[in-house]
Amino acid sequence: MTHNSSSLPAVPRAVLFDAYGTLFDVYSVGQLAEELFPGQGLALSVLWRDKQIEYTRLVTTSNHGAHYQPFSALTRAALVYAIKKIAANDYLTRATGQFDLNPEADFQSRYGDPIERLLAQYQHLSAFPENLAVLRELKNRGIPSGILSNGDAPMLHAAVQSAGLAGLLDHVISVDPIRLYKTHPQAYALGEQATGFPAAQIVFVSSNAWDALGATWYGYQTLWVNRYQLPFEELGSPPTRVGNSLRAVLEFFPA
Ligand code: LAC
Repeated sequence: MTHNSSSLPAVPRAVLFDAYGTLFDVYSVGQLAEELFPGQGLALSVLWRDKQIEYTRLVTTSNHGAHYQPFSALTRAALVYAIKKIAANDYLTRATGQFDLNPEADFQSRYGDPIERLLAQYQHLSAFPENLAVLRELKNRGIPSGILSNGDAPMLHAAVQSAGLAGLLDHVISVDPIRLYKTHPQAYALGEQATGFPAAQIVFVSSNAWDALGATWYGYQTLWVNRYQLPFEELGSPPTRVGNSLRAVLEFFPA
């Protein structure tokens, strides 16, 4: 059997990574959430993350982007929402006694400190253990790499520094200047503009299934890093490859 070489994807010329959960391990945020809200840490982190992403979609798709806020502001808003939601559920109400959502000042005095601590943790994320070696290997092979993230520049800069990745990335691209979040096509287009390559010649790497799907739809070659054996989205269009760590990105490049 022969392969039609024109149907094989081109060997990629660049690699772009999603940031949170893909390059930067957000596990420590969950740990701190558990410390601050015993028994509720996982629920809080999941709700926080889901709400954060929901808010990016809400502001991108509503009213021509008029309600845009940077990712750091949406992250804060999502955390406040998640704490209010968790606090309002029966379990915590019973566990902590007298919870009252009003007035706002009570909420602040009770949760202001945990909120600031959780947000500060976002500035001190570590990289997944294999990242350094993979980024170095890409550099050795002369393949440009970068981040393409919903995060705003100050957040990304802090995360890159904290994770010790400065100097290993050629691009740190934030959607903030265009005020449109992934999965908007203009957000994915930033990767082509920064690298100078068409999406079909770039590998986009994400641990977020929705992001890997959005990038696949846009036209990137994609790697979904499925660290926790989760199901992929049920909308067709599987990623080009699936791996369980960042190392899988090297499989796109013949040795
Ligand atoms: C990002 C989020 C979606 O870095 O993880 O874009």
